[in-house]
Amino acid sequence: MGRLQDKVAVITGAGQGIGLAYAERFLAEGAKVVVAEISEERAASAMKQLDGLGDATFVRTDISDEQSANDCAAATIDRFGTLDILVNNAALYYDIENERNDYAYLQKVFSVNLHGAWLMSRACAPTMVEKGWGRIINQSSDAAYLYNLAPMGTFHEVGAFTYSQTKWGVIGLTKFLASQLGQYNVTVNCIAPGVTMTEATKKIVPEEFIGMIPMMSAMKQSLEPEDLAGTAVFFASDDAKLVTGQVLCVDGGSCMPA
Ligand SMILES: NC(=O)c1ccc[n+]([C@@H]2O[C@H](COP(=O)([O-])OP(=O)(O)OC[C@H]3O[C@@H](n4cnc5c(N)ncnc54)[C@H](O)[C@@H]3O)[C@@H](O)[C@H]2O)c1
Repeated sequence: MGRLQDKVAVITGAGQGIGLAYAERFLAEGAKVVVAEISEERAASAMKQLDGLGDATFVRTDISDEQSANDCAAATIDRFGTLDILVNNAALYYDIENERNDYAYLQKVFSVNLHGAWLMSRACAPTMVEKGWGRIINQSSDAAYLYNLAPMGTFHEVGAFTYSQTKWGVIGLTKFLASQLGQYNVTVNCIAPGVTMTEATKKIVPEEFIGMIPMMSAMKQSLEPEDLAGTAVFFASDDAKLVTGQVLCVDGGSCMPA
């Protein structure tokens, strides 16, 4: 018996990277998994990797689109008869344009990284509330806490801090959702990973910085996607049945917020 035996889990952005590692681990723990992913190409490759590990299905989903989020929840219930766990992992990270500082782009990133998590929660929570059991696990980032990394130099304009703002927002969303849904036995928690060695990190983070990252943590170790999966399983399991509204930094001791 796995720790998530027969639970139905929707994992957004499971086409690659951390979401895919969550899908693999959830299947190993006996869950049935919906790969809710915008990219058909990434999903096809992920489904090949998940083949033979358990009961997984792909539902093409754009979490920033209300209809698509609702359709994903409906397709999950059609396929598996219920919905127990939502992992709000998808974000613009691999595909982020860090050099953009304009308002239109800030709104676009918010629409995926923060509002997408809200839309998916709104689509999935009613089933959890109705059955009196549910888990929502949001994905923030250490980036939410790294206020002191703002570059020095001549002032031109207020920065967008796009990715970090959205990831701080995810922490706030976690607490508001937790306070509303707790009475229905639905917990809402958040994982804040440190820099993790996914394809996205290799593309986004400068190589010289990647080498320095482990040295900035207490444990002097770099993180692989699999290192995060146990925390997601814990939040989803009955071991965490009275844990809600919490943020857990899984980062080898880089941030340690109070
Ligand atoms: N890798 C890291 O170092 C790190 C650190 C902290 C937090 N995170 C967070 O962890 C999560 C996964 O990180 P990753 O490195 O695997 O990133 P990634 O960019 O490789 O994966 C994100 C996935 O989400 C999908 N996606 C993007 N927009 C979508 C949308 N509108 N609807 C549905 N799917 C969409 C992408 O296609 C992709 O498969 C993200 O939330 C990221 O912000 C990553």
